[in-house]
Amino acid sequence: MNEFDDRHTSNPSDNPTFDEVLSQSRRRFLGFAGGIVSLSAFASVTGCATSAPATGGEGGAAPSLGFKSVPVSTEDRLAVPPGYRAQVLYRWGDPVGAAAGQPAFRADASDSAGDQALQAGMHHDAIELFPLPGSGRAGLLAINHEYTDDGLLHADGMTTWTADKVRKSQNAHGVSVIEVEERGGEWTVVRPSRYARRITANTPIVFSGPAAGSSWLKTSADPAGRQVLGTVNNCAGGKTPWGTYLTCEENFNGYFGNGGATAAQSRYGLRTDGFGYRWHEFDTRFDALAEPNEPNRFGWVVEIDPFDPQSAPVKRTALGRIKHESATVTLARDGRVVVYSGDDERFEYIYKFVSDGRYDARDRAANRNLLDTGTLYVARFNPDGSGDWIALVQGRNGLTAEAGFPDQATVCVLTRQAGDRVGATKMDRPEWIAVHPRTKDVYCTLTNNSERAKARQPGTDPANPRPANVYGHIIRWREAGGDPAAARFAWDIFVLAGDRQSAEPEKRGNVNGDDFGCPDGIAFDQRGVLWIETDASTAAMQTPDWARLGNNQMLAANVETGEIRRFLTGPRNCEITGVAFAPDGRTMFVNIQHPGETPSERSDPAKVRAISNWPDFTADGRPRSATVAIRREDGGVIGA
Ligand code: FEO
Ligand code: CA
Ligand code: CA
Ligand code: CA
Repeated sequence: MNEFDDRHTSNPSDNPTFDEVLSQSRRRFLGFAGGIVSLSAFASVTGCATSAPATGGEGGAAPSLGFKSVPVSTEDRLAVPPGYRAQVLYRWGDPVGAAAGQPAFRADASDSAGDQALQAGMHHDAIELFPLPGSGRAGLLAINHEYTDDGLLHADGMTTWTADKVRKSQNAHGVSVIEVEERGGEWTVVRPSRYARRITANTPIVFSGPAAGSSWLKTSADPAGRQVLGTVNNCAGGKTPWGTYLTCEENFNGYFGNGGATAAQSRYGLRTDGFGYRWHEFDTRFDALAEPNEPNRFGWVVEIDPFDPQSAPVKRTALGRIKHESATVTLARDGRVVVYSGDDERFEYIYKFVSDGRYDARDRAANRNLLDTGTLYVARFNPDGSGDWIALVQGRNGLTAEAGFPDQATVCVLTRQAGDRVGATKMDRPEWIAVHPRTKDVYCTLTNNSERAKARQPGTDPANPRPANVYGHIIRWREAGGDPAAARFAWDIFVLAGDRQSAEPEKRGNVNGDDFGCPDGIAFDQRGVLWIETDASTAAMQTPDWARLGNNQMLAANVETGEIRRFLTGPRNCEITGVAFAPDGRTMFVNIQHPGETPSERSDPAKVRAISNWPDFTADGRPRSATVAIRREDGGVIGA
C-alpha cells in the first residue's frame, strides 16, 4: 500500500479536543496489546497485533515504588528519600586517573588546558555503566561532558580570550571513561586505571557508514573525509549489547562562527554571529565560512569502546545527522539492532535505525560494525493513534536526486531535510527514549515547546496537543507485533506534565502523583520502573509558577498504574541529566549538571556562588557538575 496514504495526513484545523485525543490514542495503544484487534485499522494492516506483548503481567506484578516522596525544594542541596544516601563521586576537574599523579582540580579554576585534558570535563550529561567481567562490584563509567560555561571554566572567565582558553574549553568537552569500584557500600574512582581516558573536542575519531569519504565530509585538514578531530555537545547516549558506549552530538551548531551561509547550514541552526563559544577566533576549523564542511562532521552518534582506551571512536553516519538526543538500543525479534534517537529542537523528528546484520552474543568482534549498514527511519504519528516508520533511503519516498538526494551519503548528512521531504511528524523537542525491558514499549520525552500556536508554525496535532506546551509530555508507542524492527506502531500519550495548581488549564497536565515539568532524561531500571529527570530552563524557573515545582528533579513512574513519585531534588539551577544502574539494582548513578547556572550565557563565579556552591561549598570555589552514586542505607534495591 501507499506509505503516504492521505487518510494519515494530520490536519490541525479539525483536531479533536484534548480529552478525545487522549482517550482515542490510549484506547488504540491498549487495544494493541491484544484486546481490541478487530477495531484497529492498524491491526488490519499489519495483522500482527495479537502477538504484541501485554502492558503488564509478563514480569509479574507491577513494580512497586517503595520510597517516600521527596518534597519540592528551592534549596541548594541534593535531596533523596529517607533511608537513601547520595555520594558525590566525580566532579568537573577531578582527575580521570589514566596515570598516577594526574593534576587535582584547583578551586580558582587556574588549571591549564593540558590539565583539563586529564580531568573530568564540564557539564556531565549521559552516563552508562559497563561492568568489568568477573567482578560484581567494579566497572567503567562513560560520562558525557556536554558543554562549557567559560565564565566558570577559566580563572578570570572571558575577560580575556586566547588560543589557550579555546584549547581548555575544547578539552573540557567530550567524554570521560573512568574505572569505579564499590567497597562496603562506598564507591571510589580507581586511580590509576588502565581503562581511564578522556575524549575531547580534539581526539581523532573516524567516520564509517554511508557518508564516510563523501564530498560532504571533506575539509582542508582531511581531504579524504574520513577522520575528524573530536566530539562536541555530547548530551544523551546509549549502550550496545556488545559493551560499547554511544555518545550523541546535540547542539553542534553552537560551536561555529560565521555559519548559515547556505540553506543546508541554516536548517541545522548555524548563524553568522556564532553562539558565544568564540572557538573560531583561534581555531579556523570552527569558522564555517573558512571550512564550510566542518559542521557536517558533527551531529552524529559516536561509538566508543570503553574497554580499549587505544581504540579510535567511530562516528556512525548510517544513524543520520541531527541534534542527536538518545541512541537507545534494543534488539529486534530476529537479533537485528535497533537504535532510537530524538532530534532535540522544536518541530523536529524521532528516528530509528534498524541494522541489516544480527547481534552475535558469542562473538564481540563480529558486532563491531553492525551500526554501519541498515535502514534509517523517521516517525509519523497519525491522528488515529497509529504510526508509521518512513524509510529514509535514497530513491524511496521522494528522496530522489531531483529532490536533492543523489545518494545515501546526502540522506545521512541532510537527515532533517530528508525528514521534511517525507512528511514526518514535527514533535515538541524529542529528548530521551527508553525501551521497557520486558514489553519493549518505547517512551520518549517531549520536553516542551511553547511556539506551536505561533504564526507560521504548524499548530497542534494529536501527538503534540498543547498550543503552548510549557511543561512537556511523554509519548509512548508499541511496535507492531512487539517487534522493534516493525514498520508500524500504535502510540498514546503516557503523561502530560504540568502543575495542577496553575491558573491556566492547559498547564495543569494529568500527572497521577507528583507534578513536574520538562521531562528530559528517562531510563528504565531492571525492574521496569521508568525514571524521569527534568530540565526546566533556568530562565523559565525565574517565573513565579515554577516555584511550585522547585529545582529540577528526578521522579519514578510505575508505567502500569501511571503513578509518578518524586525521588530526588537537585541543587539550585541545576539540571538532572544522565542515570545508570548497577547490575544488582542497588546503586544508581545520577549526573547533576550546571548547578548555579544563570540565565545569562556566561557565569560570574561570585554571583553564581550566591545561587549554588554545590557540591564543595568552599568560600572561594565555584559550583561543579558531578556524578553522584545513590544507595539505600540498608543496601536494598533502589526504588523498591
Ligand atoms: Fe542537551 Fe536536549 O538536552
Ligand atoms: Ca537532554
Ligand atoms: Ca533538555
Ligand atoms: Ca543540559
